[in-house]
Amino acid sequence: MADDLCFFIKDMLIVRPPVKNSLVLRISLLAFVMVCGVFMCSIGLKQISNFTKAGFIDIKVVDKPCEVPNVEKWERPYVHFPKPTTFNRAECACNPVRYFVISSTQRSGSGWFETLLNSHMNVSSNGEIFSVKPRRTNMSTIVDTLDKIYNLDWLTSASKNECTAAVGLKWMLNQGLMQNHEAIVEYFKAKGVSMIFLFRRNLLRRRISILANAYDQNAKPLNGKHKSHVHSHDEAKILASYKPTINTTLLIPELKQADNMVKQALEYFNTTRHIILYYEDIIKNHTVLEDVQRFLRIPQMELKSRQVKIHKGPLREQVENWDDIKKVLNGTLYESFLHEDYKVS
Ligand SMILES: *[C@@H]1O[C@H](CO)[C@@H](O)[C@H](O)[C@H]1NC(C)=O
Ligand SMILES: *[C@@H]1O[C@H](CO)[C@@H](O)[C@H](O)[C@H]1NC(C)=O
Ligand SMILES: *[C@@H]1O[C@H](CO)[C@@H](O)[C@H](O)[C@H]1NC(C)=O
Ligand SMILES: *[C@@H]1O[C@H](CO)[C@@H](O)[C@H](O)[C@H]1NC(C)=O
Ligand SMILES: *[C@@H]1O[C@H](CO)[C@@H](O)[C@H](O)[C@H]1NC(C)=O
Ligand SMILES: *[C@@H]1O[C@H](CO)[C@@H](O)[C@H](O)[C@H]1NC(C)=O
Repeated sequence: MADDLCFFIKDMLIVRPPVKNSLVLRISLLAFVMVCGVFMCSIGLKQISNFTKAGFIDIKVVDKPCEVPNVEKWERPYVHFPKPTTFNRAECACNPVRYFVISSTQRSGSGWFETLLNSHMNVSSNGEIFSVKPRRTNMSTIVDTLDKIYNLDWLTSASKNECTAAVGLKWMLNQGLMQNHEAIVEYFKAKGVSMIFLFRRNLLRRRISILANAYDQNAKPLNGKHKSHVHSHDEAKILASYKPTINTTLLIPELKQADNMVKQALEYFNTTRHIILYYEDIIKNHTVLEDVQRFLRIPQMELKSRQVKIHKGPLREQVENWDDIKKVLNGTLYESFLHEDYKVS
């Protein structure tokens, strides 16, 4: 009705008044326009008051639902607009956020990978949250922890706060992830969480790395610094001088067990949205990092890490009993692990 009225006025204004138009007509026209304005304003007010009466009175202007970006239908469940209780997302309140988890195994480069991700201005990966046992006591403590992380209320040095576009954590398979896989798959599906699997192809290198790292952990801190934060190549060399001895009786069963755990994980979580990465591939070719950024739907950036790989160089120089290992693996499924699989520049 208000529209009709205004069209009427517009028509009146457009029609060129007769040349000898009187002042009276002009004034009455002006008065009519004013009345029309007041009328429309009152309709607007009435609508607002109806709105608040319907129970929306507590909703502030800021809490308007955010406009979902133009994504395909399958992707909608992965787009979120969290409202943290600990801070205000301010100008980024309507920037969509994706939820992710980096699922990995020890000594597969996930620490290094996470620092790469966190070098992105819009990524908050909060570390190995479930290394703390009480957080993985049962499904309800796991859900509480995840809810807090995904609502952006888990504050760590990695948090980018208001302008985070992807939030997640690093979760080792043996930290309750495999044990509670059914309920966790449900949670991931309900919440729209994407999984980044990060594994190491060469499980022999991984095995050696585990033993060397166990030694590093027990060794005295280097100049009082913690070893996972080694930044200089000289310090890395000192640590790399230790060579573990591999128990050749246990080697094949251990490799098999590690291999099976990865296969099992991929099967358990095969219905979730995921991407599978291998440490060696990322070292060889940084385009993998572009794939990850595409997967997380974040703007492409060059990702950087200051962490230096501690144990590098030919595998045969990293263990005491290389010849025994060669004999044990020769002719087995794992023979390829003996060969040089990548070079670190
Ligand atoms: C889970 O563990 C917490 C902390 O130990 C305990 O308080 C809670 O009752 C447990 N919940 C279930 C469902 O077992
Ligand atoms: C990324 O962060 C910057 C700076 O905080 C912000 O301006 C930008 O909108 C964010 N991008 C996304 C996709 O959220
Ligand atoms: C290798 O491990 C087996 C089983 O734990 C043990 O019996 C054996 O003594 C170990 N061998 C060496 C050389 O340590
Ligand atoms: C996931 O793994 C199960 C068990 O092996 C299999 O039956 C199912 O077809 C797989 N689903 C997909 C989507 O690959
Ligand atoms: C890295 O991978 C991409 C895509 O798989 C390929 O096109 C490119 O040639 C590779 N670069 C190197 C240096 O291997
Ligand atoms: C592997 O075993 C074959 C015989 O079974 C032998 O000829 C070859 O030299 C062995 N290779 C290594 C690297 O020990």
